[in-house]
Amino acid sequence: MSLAAGAAIFRTVDSDRFREPIRGFLVTFEGGEGSGKSTQIERLAEFLRAEGHEVVTAREPGTTEVGEAVREILLRTAPEHLSAEAELALFLAARAELVAEIVRPALEAGAVVLLDRYGDSSVAYQGYGRGLDPGRVAELNAFVTRGLAPDLTVLIDVPVEASAARSRARAPDRIERAGTQFHRRVRDGYREMALNEPERFVVLDGTGSIETVQSAIRDRIQDALASRILTPRTESS
Ligand code: TYD
Repeated sequence: MSLAAGAAIFRTVDSDRFREPIRGFLVTFEGGEGSGKSTQIERLAEFLRAEGHEVVTAREPGTTEVGEAVREILLRTAPEHLSAEAELALFLAARAELVAEIVRPALEAGAVVLLDRYGDSSVAYQGYGRGLDPGRVAELNAFVTRGLAPDLTVLIDVPVEASAARSRARAPDRIERAGTQFHRRVRDGYREMALNEPERFVVLDGTGSIETVQSAIRDRIQDALASRILTPRTESS
């Protein structure tokens, strides 16, 4: 790609951002299989709503029509040996739709958006896990989301053995069946990403009780929201 074309892509990203100021707050949840993300998100959403925030939750892949179709293909019907590039392209398509249809409009309306997986999942699974260049995957994330990065990312870290046990307990899907070495690379990848971006990532020990993990998440999110001076709905109306 020529330099000129690259510059044009970034101009588009910048001008989109200036046209639609983003007032909300984007929190993404990441981690290996069975890290308890969805339970934590449910509880956090309830808590934040009770505090008066507008909260939107979504999961990846899924939530939009295209996202649910991609989920069905990637987790159920695709062959075990699907190429890493095809796998990535499908996750990216689901992400582009989710951002365009749900995440960006919600943020523009001032909501707190809680996402069960986002771009870091592709960097961890298709990058570190399947062996694609993690930096390239991150660039593609920026492209399909028009540069929409999380304000905060909660990484719920669980040892691979614990995840495997939870996956076995509930008929493993195509990616859960990818093997221990794969899941070890995913976990190490996540930890490396968190070390590289300590201001964005909060890493929590997922082997703790649901309550312990939840209270650590709440503390961190309340601090972050306070520092952004995000006024809850009840106070602004
Ligand atoms: P899901 O059942 O939602 O798993 P979990 O409860 O662990 O989030 O399935 C999503 C699977 O898809 C999970 O194995 C991670 C994988 N995945 C990727 O490999 N790349 C991605 O970009 C995303 C979003 C998910």
